[in-house]
Amino acid sequence: MAGAGLALSTQFAHAQSTLRAGADAQGIDIAVAVNDNLLQNDSTYRNTIATQFNSVTAENVMKMDAVEPSQGNFNFAPGDRLVQFAQQNDMSVHGHTLVWHNQSPNWIKNLSGSAMRQAMENHITTTMNHWEGDIAGWDVVNEVVDGGQLRNSFWLQAMGPDYIQWAFEAARAADPSADLYMNDYSIEGINSKSDKYYQMAQDLVSQGLLDGMGFQSHLILGQVPGNMEQNLQRFADLGLKVRITELDVRIQMPASQQELQQQAQDYQRVIDICTSIADCSGVTVWGLRDGDSWVPDVFSGYGAPLLYNDNYTTKPAYDAVLEALGGTPPDDDTTPPDDDTTPPDDDDTTPPPTGDGDCTAVIDVVNDWGSGWQGNVMITAGDSAVSGWTLNWTWPSGQSITSSWNADISSSGSSVTASDVGWNADIAAGQTMNAWGFVGSGSSASPQVTCTAG
Ligand code: G3I
Repeated sequence: MAGAGLALSTQFAHAQSTLRAGADAQGIDIAVAVNDNLLQNDSTYRNTIATQFNSVTAENVMKMDAVEPSQGNFNFAPGDRLVQFAQQNDMSVHGHTLVWHNQSPNWIKNLSGSAMRQAMENHITTTMNHWEGDIAGWDVVNEVVDGGQLRNSFWLQAMGPDYIQWAFEAARAADPSADLYMNDYSIEGINSKSDKYYQMAQDLVSQGLLDGMGFQSHLILGQVPGNMEQNLQRFADLGLKVRITELDVRIQMPASQQELQQQAQDYQRVIDICTSIADCSGVTVWGLRDGDSWVPDVFSGYGAPLLYNDNYTTKPAYDAVLEALGGTPPDDDTTPPDDDTTPPDDDDTTPPPTGDGDCTAVIDVVNDWGSGWQGNVMITAGDSAVSGWTLNWTWPSGQSITSSWNADISSSGSSVTASDVGWNADIAAGQTMNAWGFVGSGSSASPQVTCTAG
């Protein structure tokens, strides 16, 4: 219980600046896939997860090869460790996964059809009974479709297509309180694979066997499908919960500042999709720090797909997720100290914000690498809410903007005008938004900015 007290006081002290506070306010889960080794051995890892997330998934330890390594011998200890951590820190647990063609033990692959059915049902029943009431939802089947048809897995080969329904029947009986999900990758947009799931979902829903659809969302930079919201909505319209279950956004290495900003937009878009759909139960990121991710092992040359750097500093994607959840990026000690390339906070040299109408704005120099620099623009609404904003300023010594994100910019000589791009137009009274950013040339500067609301 000491652990619970510590985590909760941290959470409330920074209620405006954690992912979990934002997600709680939105009524959704913000979850992370947890590595059991780090959970046991790294207190910063544990504290960061307990402070920032309200839900967890086991990255590996609830899969069949971990839970039932030999037939009838169950090892629940690593999964119990995660459930206990979650309960101590007031987090929910999403179960991953009961029936998958990967990370299944060899013993089950050699059974005949009827023996395999019995073993599959026994695995589901015993596992779900063990954690009955502790697990909010289970990925009952994972990746059972390939292209537009059922995957030709050892499960299908031995038992035929009915095995999916049998798995759901066993799961429903084992823990009636758990939501039952199908889960897969490359089904974020509308395509033959998601169409196949849509058909299967209709069938399982009509039998009362399915509660949710999981969209893994292992995305490539800049490639959030344009019809992702429409796709998730059609599953929600069947009466299902939808969930982003394994989000990461991979970048070809090395990642540039611009790419990290694009990644932030991609993350923000996915969170926005979830918060726009009433029955979206949450978003899980597939690992905490870039170095914890499976991506570089599998996609050669790609990496940096997550919200945190390896030293536990946050990335632009973290700020974007926080904002999408309605929070404000921290400017205090909740963020671990940045690395040496970031100049110290220069509050003393930044001129006080000046207002014009209902808003004020400042340019924060967040990075300066000599040949260029990055500015983030923070806009604060006054006593009334802002709906639309235009900023004006004059560069003091020949600076210019080489690229920008999340604002419409026009320049004339040293004068700059920037305005909102629609989705970032609204700022609640008294709130500060990390509204947009840019990469600048020349030496960094924080000129006085005039903000006009409306
Ligand atoms: O447990 C062994 C350990 O004994 C051995 O020393 C070590 C040496 O490589 O391997 C360990 O197993 C690794 C396992 O993770 C547990 O850490 C495997 O090599 C490694 O391949 C495995 O990778 C996992 C992968 O699923 C396996 O399919 C990743 O961590 C995990 O992130 C990934 O997660 C999947 C989801 O479950 C389903 N959707 C796709 C997603 C990404 O592949």
